Amino acid sequence: MKAFKQMALIAVLSVVTLQVGAQATTSPTFDKVLTSRRSVRNYDATKKISEAEVRTLIRAAQNAPSWANQQPTKYYVAISDKKLKAVQDLVGGNKERIKNAPVLIVSTYERGKSGFFRGEKTNEIGDGWGAYDNGLSNCYLILQARAMGFDTLIMGMREADKLRTLFNIPENETVMAVIALGYRAEEPRTPRHRELDEIVKFF
Ligand SMILES: Cc1cc2nc3c(=O)[nH]c(=O)nc-3n(C[C@H](O)[C@H](O)[C@H](O)COP(=O)(O)O)c2cc1C
Repeated sequence: MKAFKQMALIAVLSVVTLQVGAQATTSPTFDKVLTSRRSVRNYDATKKISEAEVRTLIRAAQNAPSWANQQPTKYYVAISDKKLKAVQDLVGGNKERIKNAPVLIVSTYERGKSGFFRGEKTNEIGDGWGAYDNGLSNCYLILQARAMGFDTLIMGMREADKLRTLFNIPENETVMAVIALGYRAEEPRTPRHRELDEIVKFF
């Protein structure tokens, strides 16, 4: 009976060790998502993306952390031909790059939430924390997109005021990036990345 108990204990410990070990290693699938995600500037006009698929992306983005769980990010999705055409005209020199993207997503954040406590700035960053949270949310979205086989282009070149009017975006929201979503029609190149030691110091 004692030997049986010992064996059972060893079995349980092995399973626990295996599980912890598995969690500690980065999944190759996740690596692939990270390294194959590139800014795509030419989309396949024949491939569509459904509203349900976009909802999956936004749901993934809801897992992003935010200041005191304020979740200040909002999304306005152009998926109809009419709205897509309208947004294409509001992204400046990006127009040609995203003309075949089947979805264009305008991302905003509500000011006065992240970085604030009882209406007062918590520190010097203020609404910068809203922009920070917005970037995190966008990051989750574009990585989920890549995991689903889609491609994206984040665009900072866009006409914020006209987008506000087009989507009736409230004044308390800051218009951030427009994100093109679709399927790649070209193989994007990986840009040069800075040397690690240029961007990190260990102490
Ligand atoms: C905030 C932000 C704004 C950007 N704006 C544009 C843009 O207006 N047009 C564009 O072609 N790319 C834009 N990009 C894409 C960057 O140029 C791109 O991420 C960078 O060159 C690295 O390439 P990669 O995304 O393929 O890794 C933007 C990226 C970010 C994060």
